[in-house]
Amino acid sequence: MNVLVLGSGGREHTIVWKLSQSTDINKIYCIPGNGGIANLAECVDIKFSELDKIYEFIKTNKIDIVVVGPEQPLVDGIKDFFEEKKVPVFGPTKLQAQLEGSKVFAKLFMKDYDIPTADFNIAESYQQAKKILCDMFEKYPDGVVVKADGLAAGKGAVVCDSLQQAEKVVYDMMVNKVFGRSGEKVVIEKKLSGVELSVIAFCDGETILPLTHSQDHKQVYDGDRGPNTGGMGAYSPVPFVSKRLEEKIYTQVIQNFLKGVKSSGLGYNGIIYFGLMVENIGKENEQPYVLEFNCRFGDPETQVVLPLLETDLLKIIVATLEKKLNNCLLSFVKKYACCVVLASQGYPGNYDTGKKILGLETVNNMNNVLVFHAGTKKVADDYYTSGGRVLGVVGLADNLSVAIDTAYSAVEKIMFENKYYRKDIGKKGLVSC
Ligand code: AMP
Ligand code: GLY
Repeated sequence: MNVLVLGSGGREHTIVWKLSQSTDINKIYCIPGNGGIANLAECVDIKFSELDKIYEFIKTNKIDIVVVGPEQPLVDGIKDFFEEKKVPVFGPTKLQAQLEGSKVFAKLFMKDYDIPTADFNIAESYQQAKKILCDMFEKYPDGVVVKADGLAAGKGAVVCDSLQQAEKVVYDMMVNKVFGRSGEKVVIEKKLSGVELSVIAFCDGETILPLTHSQDHKQVYDGDRGPNTGGMGAYSPVPFVSKRLEEKIYTQVIQNFLKGVKSSGLGYNGIIYFGLMVENIGKENEQPYVLEFNCRFGDPETQVVLPLLETDLLKIIVATLEKKLNNCLLSFVKKYACCVVLASQGYPGNYDTGKKILGLETVNNMNNVLVFHAGTKKVADDYYTSGGRVLGVVGLADNLSVAIDTAYSAVEKIMFENKYYRKDIGKKGLVSC
């Protein structure tokens, strides 16, 4: 089969790497790809918005399946566009992708289908939001979270500890329109506290098959301080998730999601990502809540969950598209994976690019180490930084502690000017609850 992957980050490199191991793969193409992907796939520079050009490319190169990495093309309806042309696209339709593209849609879906989530209200005007904030702060003095309805490049959810702060956030979203139309409506919800977890699953509308759970590290500095980023590292599986908690997540979140997409008629085909907060973890009354749905693989969670997946990824994708996931059984390597993201100093703010990367060859020869490129460019045989997140360095081992050490020993061998990374990725997993 010829497969076209859309995207340019560490997630897409991991998808391409995993697909390249499939027995059914003939050739992989990637739009636009990156320096690392270029070693496994033919990279082509076409904009996601140039759908007719992509279609020409698909016809010329006899592409059998398109796999979409990021959310924006899905939310914009790339699946619907190609479905009409009989090109199979792995990912949800425009309407299904509203589960990520609209927080209002997602919260109402959760409420309708008993998926545990933080108590919330929806505001459609600034005046209404101000009133809701007063009521919510009376009910929840510990704080609320204000969420822009639409996509906002990961910056649309703001945790607010005071009414004053929340009013300012709402003003910025609804009056100053800092996120444009994405802030026309806002969700205001109870601030939860606990441990965040990510669960990523394949879903064909009838069957849902989760991968191993993982934990992201969103903030830029050690100890979960500083501004949110796209993710500075991840590990999988999460050792302190007990069987009991897994079962709760399965019955209350995963099963109810499936019931919801079936009985609402929404359907679902592709990857569904559950961003969870678990309150009182390890205690009798522990409770998972869904913070968000994503309609695609997580980044950097993909860099740790796909290396642990034994099953052929292309076979699962085909089964999902054919609605035959019930015939699939996912198997996993009994190991731990830890991914440390190497970023450019300054990220998620301003940073320099074009710095030469050294040490990749040494690291590629290390056992139990995988390097996924996120923001790199290949020029002749050399690699240069081209983004905020540059590389995801993954260590694999029989236990989490060694997986972390393996990743960091590789991290130390990779050099580029202004290299920045967190030193505590995976540490949270070593503390038993
Ligand atoms: P979201 O875009 O909804 O995933 O939110 C982004 C981040 O905001 C999450 O990963 C959490 O760290 C935080 N967050 C979102 N909702 C809540 C909530 N109800 N309580 C506490 N933190 C939250
Ligand atoms: N790691 C969080 C996300 O992919 O949205």
